[in-house]
Amino acid sequence: MASKMSSVKERLGFSSDNFAVGGLCKTLLIAGLLLYLIILFQSNQNPNCPANPRSFSPFLKRDPISINSRTNQTSEDTPTNLSHLVFGLLGSEKAWHQRKAYIESWWRPKVTKGYLYLDEPPTGELRPWSTVWPPYRVSDDLTKLLQETKAQAPVMIRMVHGVMEVFRELKDNENIRWIVMGDDDSIFFVENMVDVLAKYDHTKYYYLGGQSEFIMSNFWYSFNQGFGGAGFMLSYPLAKALAKDMEGCLRRYAHFTSADKITFACIADIGVNLSPQKGSHQIDLRGDISGFLSSHPKSPLMSLHHFNGVQPIFPSMDRFESTRHLMKAANVDQSRMLQQTICYHRQHKWSFSISWGYSVHIYERVMPRSYLQNPIETFQMWSEMLSPPYYMFNTRVLSNYSCEAPHVFFFESIKKTSKNEIVTSYSRASPRGIFLSCSSNESRTAEHIFKIEVVSPATKRIEMDRCECCDIVGIVGNKAHIKFRECMTDEIIA
Ligand SMILES: *[C@@H]1O[C@H](CO)[C@@H](O)[C@H](O)[C@H]1NC(C)=O
Ligand SMILES: *[C@@H]1O[C@H](CO)[C@@H](O)[C@H](O)[C@H]1NC(C)=O
Ligand SMILES: *[C@@H]1O[C@H](CO)[C@@H](O)[C@H](O)[C@H]1NC(C)=O
Ligand SMILES: *[C@@H]1O[C@H](CO)[C@@H](O)[C@H](O)[C@H]1NC(C)=O
Repeated sequence: MASKMSSVKERLGFSSDNFAVGGLCKTLLIAGLLLYLIILFQSNQNPNCPANPRSFSPFLKRDPISINSRTNQTSEDTPTNLSHLVFGLLGSEKAWHQRKAYIESWWRPKVTKGYLYLDEPPTGELRPWSTVWPPYRVSDDLTKLLQETKAQAPVMIRMVHGVMEVFRELKDNENIRWIVMGDDDSIFFVENMVDVLAKYDHTKYYYLGGQSEFIMSNFWYSFNQGFGGAGFMLSYPLAKALAKDMEGCLRRYAHFTSADKITFACIADIGVNLSPQKGSHQIDLRGDISGFLSSHPKSPLMSLHHFNGVQPIFPSMDRFESTRHLMKAANVDQSRMLQQTICYHRQHKWSFSISWGYSVHIYERVMPRSYLQNPIETFQMWSEMLSPPYYMFNTRVLSNYSCEAPHVFFFESIKKTSKNEIVTSYSRASPRGIFLSCSSNESRTAEHIFKIEVVSPATKRIEMDRCECCDIVGIVGNKAHIKFRECMTDEIIA
């Protein structure tokens, strides 16, 4: 409650200096506060309040009914859009030659704002610097600080210092609300990022980011840390406070060997903790991550990372082609990207699990959503561990038992129809390789299905309370047709 009161104080323009005014003023102020609290209380209590995505968490922006709407409306109250974000990407001259393809896949020249920080000026084919890349800056020379502090990991100090270097670029008239830090191989889904950030009050202190998928990474570094490759987001006031304390911060934690750990520690000392985002992915996994991407948590996809450390996510493409291919779907509808939607062909007893824009699985038995939402462990651990737990989520074993193993289809193409719908097509990557059907009735096998077409509305889906549902509209020859819709009131996905 204290923080709410002080925010009212701020909004009303009382600074702590002129707060100590006469008794009348105090009475008025207290009366005003009471009124505010009553309004706040009532607006929270009203059971008929329409489902407002902004009111689903106490962390989120206060309801528009609050004091904001009745006082001077400033630009602070307009919805957050991409122009309010500035990106700071930490890279190196050497790696950029190859990693630039990851950033190119999402960077929008003249639209996204921000900088790429290099350890040294670009050379060779990087000159002249392309306009399709973020403009670059060469990181500050921190030799003196590094010597004085005997820093354990100079590169890490450079990365943390980057937050301050981004912050000092900001002009007063730019209206930046969020500073988004990432690596030179971070793949961002900026529209979803904007939608998620828009729910938070950027005038407050917020630190958003992703934990590692690998439990031990969180244990070794910190469960309170946002992993840099997944990207972390700082509200303006927090970035400002961190930039101001940068030298003190680096001196306090020069013995840490991880940039993300130093950052989290300095932010903790400001009094702020991580708000973990389930759609921000460090991808501390190895091998084939298709199982993970096919059972994505029901949260907007904000980032992917470590593509050099995993197999290409589409089996017939290289890493860069895969990234660009995924973006074809993301560029049409980010809100549904990788969202898992499940429906059943009751007669055949098949389950369809669609990870929109990426894959479709067909299982030859009916499996409930509670089970299908666990990723199949197609991937390996980031570091070999002898015993579980390994991951921050439950998994299903990779099985070649015909009732357990899916027929797998990958995203192929996307188009908009004249009926304000989107059609995504998925095709079979390879035969399942298991010749038995789950049923003794051989006509129930899905082996012959080669293509799946999914129709979804061409409108952004903002509801986060429940997933979408779907229907198998028909199976014609070797092609299955599926249509998305909202789930019915009493629908059970099982
Ligand atoms: C809001 O306040 C600003 C200064 O803070 C002022 O310039 C502007 O005219 C005010 N707008 C309204 C509608 O009162
Ligand atoms: C973003 O919001 C600002 C107001 O804060 C507005 O002036 C600007 O036109 C918006 N930009 C886009 C691309 O919508
Ligand atoms: C075998 O499965 C098909 C398709 O599901 C069904 O039409 C048929 O009746 C089944 N046959 C038997 C003997 O159960
Ligand atoms: C199926 O699984 C068994 C046991 O895990 C394994 O021995 C066998 O090689 C697998 N077969 C195929 C085709 O992957």
